[in-house]
Amino acid sequence: MTEQPGLSALATENRRFDPPAELAASANVTTDAYDDAAKDRLAFWATQAERLQWEQPWDEVLDWQPPYAKWFVGATLNVAANCVDRHVANGLGQRVALHWEGEPEGDRRTVTYAELHKEVCQAANALTGLGVRAGDRVMIYLPMIPEAVVAMLACARLGAPHSVVFGGFSAQALVDRITDADARFVITADGGYRRGAPAALKPAVDDAVARCPSIEKVLVVRRTGQDVAWTDKDVWWHEVVGEQPETHTPKAFDSEHPLFLLYTSGTTGKPKGILHTSGGYLTQAAWTHWAVFDLKPETDVYWCTADIGWVTGHSYLVYGPLANGATQVMYEGTPDAGGQDRWWSIVERYGVTILYTAPTAIRTFMKWGEDLPGKHDLTSLRVLGSVGEPINPEAWIWYRRVIGGDRCPIVDTWWQTETGAMMIAPLPGVTSCKPGSAMGALPGIAIDVVDGEGTPTKAGFLTLNEPWPSMLRGIWNDDARYRETYWNRFEGRYFAGDGAKYDGDDVLWLLGRVDDVMNISGHRISTTEVESALVSHPSVAEAAVVGAADATTGQAIVAFVTVKGDIADDISSGEAFAKELRDHVAKEIGPIAKPRQILITPELPKTRSGKIMRRLLRDVAEHRELGDVTTLADPTVVNAINNKMGSAAAED
Ligand code: WTA
Repeated sequence: MTEQPGLSALATENRRFDPPAELAASANVTTDAYDDAAKDRLAFWATQAERLQWEQPWDEVLDWQPPYAKWFVGATLNVAANCVDRHVANGLGQRVALHWEGEPEGDRRTVTYAELHKEVCQAANALTGLGVRAGDRVMIYLPMIPEAVVAMLACARLGAPHSVVFGGFSAQALVDRITDADARFVITADGGYRRGAPAALKPAVDDAVARCPSIEKVLVVRRTGQDVAWTDKDVWWHEVVGEQPETHTPKAFDSEHPLFLLYTSGTTGKPKGILHTSGGYLTQAAWTHWAVFDLKPETDVYWCTADIGWVTGHSYLVYGPLANGATQVMYEGTPDAGGQDRWWSIVERYGVTILYTAPTAIRTFMKWGEDLPGKHDLTSLRVLGSVGEPINPEAWIWYRRVIGGDRCPIVDTWWQTETGAMMIAPLPGVTSCKPGSAMGALPGIAIDVVDGEGTPTKAGFLTLNEPWPSMLRGIWNDDARYRETYWNRFEGRYFAGDGAKYDGDDVLWLLGRVDDVMNISGHRISTTEVESALVSHPSVAEAAVVGAADATTGQAIVAFVTVKGDIADDISSGEAFAKELRDHVAKEIGPIAKPRQILITPELPKTRSGKIMRRLLRDVAEHRELGDVTTLADPTVVNAINNKMGSAAAED
């Protein structure tokens, strides 16, 4: 169980980790769910929809006019009332909804469901007073503070679709989104805490609003107390929200009423406004959250580390958990604020039982060393989740051993902004997991791996064959792009843009975006496979691999690598070390997968959501001019990499 066989891991990984017996014995979901869904998929989803509180029942579960779906046709509900009011009505008002922890040490707030109810009602009343009506688009540009959750729920309560923009995005990104959504309102804050200091948000909003005449009012939360410029469109949150009546009668909206727009990048420069609606979205977000994490709302303390600016924050910090009446942790800052063990002190303090995070975070913690989590009592944890990118087997095993104490099942969950909720994942009480695999489709979800012609096969493109409740309902204002991006590639199938393959045990492996699949001398090699091989070398912390244009082989492999903290610079910078890594990859995969170049860099360039910016690395590798770097977490990393590239000796 020690040495990880790199690539072949993805093809011939034979280790299995069974569900813990105790968890399996009391699991929310058993293998019956697969049978029920296989027998009658629509009846299965109708049963899951019963978890919600509907004002009017549906006439029809699904109306499918490809590529447009309507779920729970004719039914009505209020999403915010489902996430808050009904729990209070059920006597759970004193249950903690949020254990909020600000970045500055000691800055904490506990919000019960009763308090959340009061604040959402007051915010809904305040927004109504400012002129927000059902159907209006409201931009939310906030740090990770309880008001962010309140603002989203207040919009949902009024039927005003929100569009959350990640606080790390620029004024220009805000302008693009406000303009595309034709929004009338912005909710923001003076700033938030990042890396130990207040980081301003309002100046970006001021800049954007000056260029966006559609904006009528800006509601501003005071978080840091820093100085802000003020215009006659600005209103302080604490001045208008706190004054409002503490009750508000929610109106029921159609199941297909728009709930939110969330902008995500596609292959072109213009971001796509992914549209999600109410009933189907909430059904799948709530059910998957309950099933895949085996949530026991009475006793679990759940923590999703994603920012609300990403879809994971929408579905698994706001809507899914709150619809299920969960108690959760919300943390404002960076993982190393106040010490590189900050997360583990949070797990210990609140007794977190379910942790949902991303592989990039796990690999960072691997780099920082296992003595940091080792300093804390993590025995409360019982289920671990992963999302956002393929998790390499080494990181999976480390996560299980060091964080999960070899007790906790890991659920690797594949889904997208477009899918709205989890699609491919194991069930922790059912599935015997292979390290690094999301295993297979959830009950009620139909997938196929197809070849270029759309014929089902063992290795190729991941497609979704049947509509699912939380599917996107389109791209805002761009119907042609919706059809073109997702539905035109393969007849009758949603094209996810990911490569995937089944191994000999019919277990599914996600191989990254298909544009990350390299073609080296006519051989198909996934960037994930090479990365996995590199990371299996004991000195390597993280690796990003790109296919760079090559006159001879079509593409050539260029690897960017960060090394573990205890590897001395003079060792890692030497030719001998690069050769050792190349030989290691050759050994793990075969000579064909040997990187042409290996660059040792202090960090890898990542977007603020932690995704490695492969396109950018490809530009660096091919000595092209750099594209837009505004979404980089640390733009200086690129320059550092570029300088290295200039001096790196390329091997033949
Ligand atoms: C990738 C994030 C492998 C995938 C929820 C997908 C994953 C894209 C996984 C969507 C996973 C997400 N294993 N790859 N468990 N989860 N991805 O829209 O390439 O930010 O298409 O949604 O992330 O990213 P998005």
